[in-house]
Amino acid sequence: MGKEEVVEMVQELAESGQALPGCYILPEKQRPDRASPSALDIPVIDLSLLLRETGCEDDQAKRLQYAVQSWGLFQVIGYDLSPSFLDEVRDVVRKFFQLPMDVKQKSSNLKGEKLEPEGYGNYGVARKDQIIDWNDRLYLSVQPEEKRRLDLWPENPCSFREILHEYTIQTRKVAELVLLALAKLLKLEKNYFVNQLGDTAEVRARFNYYPRCSRPDLVLGINPHSDGSLITILLPDKEVEGLQVLRDGDWFKVPIIPHALLINLGNQIQIMSNGIFKSPVHRVTANSEKDRISVAMFYSLEPEKTLEAAEGVVDETRPCLYKKMRVKDFLNIFFEKYTQGVSTIEWARI
Ligand code: OGA
Ligand code: NI
Repeated sequence: MGKEEVVEMVQELAESGQALPGCYILPEKQRPDRASPSALDIPVIDLSLLLRETGCEDDQAKRLQYAVQSWGLFQVIGYDLSPSFLDEVRDVVRKFFQLPMDVKQKSSNLKGEKLEPEGYGNYGVARKDQIIDWNDRLYLSVQPEEKRRLDLWPENPCSFREILHEYTIQTRKVAELVLLALAKLLKLEKNYFVNQLGDTAEVRARFNYYPRCSRPDLVLGINPHSDGSLITILLPDKEVEGLQVLRDGDWFKVPIIPHALLINLGNQIQIMSNGIFKSPVHRVTANSEKDRISVAMFYSLEPEKTLEAAEGVVDETRPCLYKKMRVKDFLNIFFEKYTQGVSTIEWARI
């Protein structure tokens, strides 16, 4: 990657009312359609029913099977996180982004001239012709706990740290329930994915803030990508839509279900399932009237582990589809390709 150039925060740009700088404007072919896309009929899965094993879980298991093989995306309910706690999380995130810039900059990802992966900011511009996302973010390691950079964790709002800690613990339970169900679908030992994550899994939280945009027809909140994680848990904005998913060349919008969490399969589980599970390409559109927030929790295997298909999903009829590599190497390539808008999962194919 070449020398990175730091760009202004999108929030400042949006508030200044100045004309849209060229680095945000997409080439015509990549601009979002003006016509509203169809809503995706995305399955909602009740985890409490799915894992009960009383015989009544079949219907939920069928929905899950359909979801992972078609969309790679589904919503879950039936976990211990209360709707009021999810609202508290959204609230504290909004409050953080509404703070004055100099307060937020205490968590800045900029150290001198250098952009750090963690902290508050936006991506540096690696190439001159790179189109930047209409989005500011706060990106923080949450697990393992000893890897937390507490110097970057906001102290303001004062409940931020406590809420993020609690949210980390609660969503980890949801991730593990989902992973149990996914291993069962593949007829693997049910703890297969949970054990792959283990105590050393790297979990990162990304708080996204998409300011209102005067020209949502020219920009994207996040350009098309699939996640490099094993899975991602997304807490979407409660009112403002924007997330879209690509299927057979068309974009579909993901509807909001206020108290559900969205599960997005990542590249790592696509490789480990030998392509049976699909990691969907998705993007976020901007909105001319309202700003939008979201929280993504990315679950990733420990960097020194090997990323490869599970033994039970490779045979003569289904040979191994992806190169075997260290998680660390995969992620390095992932971030490099991400800034180029190139898919790592395609690159990883044998
Ligand atoms: C992401 C992402 C979607 C959203 O952070 O990787 O895809 O709705 N976010 O904010
Ligand atoms: Ni994503």
